[in-house]
Amino acid sequence: MSEWVDICEAQAIPPGHAARIEIGERPIAIFNVAGEFHCLDDTCSHALASLSEGELHEAACTIECPLHGSQFDLRSGEPASFPAVEPVLVHQVEVREGELWVSLNDST
Ligand code: FES
Repeated sequence: MSEWVDICEAQAIPPGHAARIEIGERPIAIFNVAGEFHCLDDTCSHALASLSEGELHEAACTIECPLHGSQFDLRSGEPASFPAVEPVLVHQVEVREGELWVSLNDST
């Protein structure tokens, strides 16, 4: 994990919504599922699609890719349906005094 970065106020991403943010030149997606935040790489592992533009399934805690419909588990980044077969990298996210902080998983 890399150093923690202050992203924005947590209330800027309300429950049921997502946001695309760039840290350096890396696009990441932050999702608010019933007040719990998840952070993944924004680019789908199958092709060039922005996951933050997909449909958020809060009950299943998945994001559905807007291009071909693969769903990814927001907790693990693992694909739950085809055509994607590779996971999307998950990053750590925390709320500290109302601010969202992210630590990138730099294992790639
Ligand atoms: S680009 Fe996401 S499933 Fe194809």
